[in-house]
Amino acid sequence: MAQPRLLILGAPGAGKGTQSANIVDEFDVEHVTTGDALRANKDMDISEMDTEYDTPREYMDKGELVPDAVVNAIVDEALSQADGFVLDGYPRNLEQAEELAEMTELDLALMLDVSEEELVHRLTGRRLDPETGEIYHVEYNPPEDPEIEERLVQRDDDDEETVRERLSVYEENTEPVVEHYETEGLLERVDGEQAPDEVWAEVKETIENAA
Ligand code: AP5
Repeated sequence: MAQPRLLILGAPGAGKGTQSANIVDEFDVEHVTTGDALRANKDMDISEMDTEYDTPREYMDKGELVPDAVVNAIVDEALSQADGFVLDGYPRNLEQAEELAEMTELDLALMLDVSEEELVHRLTGRRLDPETGEIYHVEYNPPEDPEIEERLVQRDDDDEETVRERLSVYEENTEPVVEHYETEGLLERVDGEQAPDEVWAEVKETIENAA
């Protein structure tokens, strides 16, 4: 597989962003992430799309899904410019999975399995470097450089109440997507509860074996 076309699935906090960064470095593919794209356009006016709220921000700050029409357009545009990719945060419901099937074929869907209490702990302790986009954790992966530590920020939706809502939205909408790819024979599960390097070793091997 010269330029793999991959999905990375998993609940909020499962480590999709962390492992996608490794995949991009190793396999030289594009990282297509709806979460980052939406965060960069949180105040975009979507009122013409006949949506409940007028901006992505209002959905995201509540932990709800942004309407499909907005997200489908982002992914369609990004995939049209990528040969190989790791798609992170999409599809999040069966309607989006159907849209994706119209846009491209996939080589593999990777699922990172992590228990709920560990997810809450990871998300409430996550911190981001606004200058580099690097992902840290206050306990599991703090930066060594105190200058970096000082500038770290927390994502608006990483407070415990919003995290619990995101997990319940995931269970209701995205678990059926995981079952869909399992039925299609595209799904490979990885134990996401191991240390980041151990998860990466398994992810890398799974992608290489799918080649
Ligand atoms: P999005 O940005 O996609 O967030 P998410 O799916 O909730 O996932 P996260 O980014 O929170 O977690 P992650 O799995 O990437 O974990 P990470 O690697 O950072 O979406 C945000 C919002 O945008 C949604 O709620 C929705 O509103 C909207 N949206 C996005 N896509 C959409 C779509 N398709 N349709 C509609 N709406 C959409 O790791 C988490 C933490 O754990 C970090 O601190 C990390 O250092 C640590 N960590 C990672 N791996 C390990 C490990 N193995 N051991 C210990 N710690 C670890």
